[in-house]
Amino acid sequence: MAKQEDDFKKVISHAKEYGYVFQSSEIYDGLSAVYDYAQNGAELKKNIREYWWRAMVQLNDNIVGLDAAIFMHPTTWKASGHVDAFSDPLIDNKDSKKRYRADVLVEDYVAKIEGKIEKEVKKATKRFGEAFDKEQFLSTNQRVVDYQEKATTILKRLGKSLENEDLADVKKLIEELEIACPMSGSKNWTDVKQFNLMFGTKLGASTETAMDLYLRPETAQGIFVNFLNVQKTSRMKIPFGIAQTGKAFRNEIVARQFIFRMREFEQMEMQFFIKPGSQKEWYEHWKAHRLRWHLSLGMGEDNYRFHDHEKLAHYADAAADIEFRFPFGFKELEGIHSRTDFDLSKHQEFSGKKLQYFDTDENKNYVPYVVETSIGLDRMFLAVFSNSLQEEELENGTTRTVLKLPAVLAPTKAAVFPLVKKDGLPELAHEIIDDLKWDFNVLYDQKDAVGRRYRRQDANGTPFCITVDHQSLEDKTVTIRHRDTMEQQRVAISELKAIIHKEVDMKSWLMKMK
Ligand code: GAP
Repeated sequence: MAKQEDDFKKVISHAKEYGYVFQSSEIYDGLSAVYDYAQNGAELKKNIREYWWRAMVQLNDNIVGLDAAIFMHPTTWKASGHVDAFSDPLIDNKDSKKRYRADVLVEDYVAKIEGKIEKEVKKATKRFGEAFDKEQFLSTNQRVVDYQEKATTILKRLGKSLENEDLADVKKLIEELEIACPMSGSKNWTDVKQFNLMFGTKLGASTETAMDLYLRPETAQGIFVNFLNVQKTSRMKIPFGIAQTGKAFRNEIVARQFIFRMREFEQMEMQFFIKPGSQKEWYEHWKAHRLRWHLSLGMGEDNYRFHDHEKLAHYADAAADIEFRFPFGFKELEGIHSRTDFDLSKHQEFSGKKLQYFDTDENKNYVPYVVETSIGLDRMFLAVFSNSLQEEELENGTTRTVLKLPAVLAPTKAAVFPLVKKDGLPELAHEIIDDLKWDFNVLYDQKDAVGRRYRRQDANGTPFCITVDHQSLEDKTVTIRHRDTMEQQRVAISELKAIIHKEVDMKSWLMKMK
């Protein structure tokens, strides 16, 4: 646990030191769970967004984009169920006065059990070496089977109690598991209560006439209310999808873990409109498709797993998370939800406007069903960033800190260095930059010895460093160094564009999804 916390602290301080993420309003001591993306963070975030947009919109001829407003008519949130049901079960510790999400306390308890299972697996892997059969071990080792059973029973009970709104049982579960306040160690808990997560605001010039609004807690509703407008103007036939990225706001009470759980964050969502009855097939399709998107970034198959929901949201008939191994354990990265016709039917009811599709094949009108994919951009940022940050032992006994971002997402693709600050080398380095900058983000650096400049760019996540030396003036060649292998090659300046392009081109990365 201490190592996990330590690793996570390193992630947070690296993000700050290298211009990725800053605490919002830091000069005023910050605002809790609100963050700003700095020069490198803004680029990384933009690249992740584009990687998603291309995979969803550009590569699917039956998905179109949308950019709906953050403010929506307040009835939207009544219809969607958010006014009545978008809440978290909260519990206070009477001694520390700290407030927690009751379900998260239980889930953290289960995560500890899962940690024990992982430990057992690691031990056994060491003991049995090549002959180790993980599946067999998981199903036959009595201690592991008991752990697994315990975890499943707890999660099942939690899911059932939440679904039945039985908050008294959630408290009972916390007491039975003897969960203590992480701050004070006290087990003196209040009852569990529901707390609505939407932020309210006002629209209008005077207090008497102002209209109460909410900041949207998800981007999805902007898609639902525009469903018919988009379908008609794009002449899409079912099945088709509408995708959008944008800000969402939630008054998260337990906002911890850096950009994992924020009060203002960005979502990348896609609603796929389908024929009623085909939801199971499309739900499986999108689960598999979204996992392929994640795997295309090469961050390790073992770092992902599906978690099927026991407790379903008020709108879903099936739901799963794609979980990622964050520095603090496996947690939700993306949700895939089969939302039935809940949202469109509710908007139809509350607005009095028909939100139906005329199916020419079946010659009838119906309210389409929806399968949704929803991923937090900031959470994806954290997954990519934390997974990429590595400390490497080098052959000469030193260590280097390297941010092995997938090259396609790296904020800067290449840094160009003159070996010395004279003899025409800076001028040639600038010439190279002036040529490369039309295709890639590149930067110039002449400060310090070249070795230190390499280290700086390693920590920055830059996939290539290009060094201009005296030989470059004579034969128009330079040294190009690869971040991950530290390999250096002498190449012609005219070849640089092709070498960089081969590694950072979005098309080749996305093709790995096939
Ligand atoms: N439209 C469905 C929906 O919003 P959700 O599971 O509440 O579903 C989807 O959110 C995704 O949004 C999550 O998987 C997560 O990646 C991201 N997300 C949710 N709340 C967040 C928060 N407070 N901070 C950062 N990301 C968040």
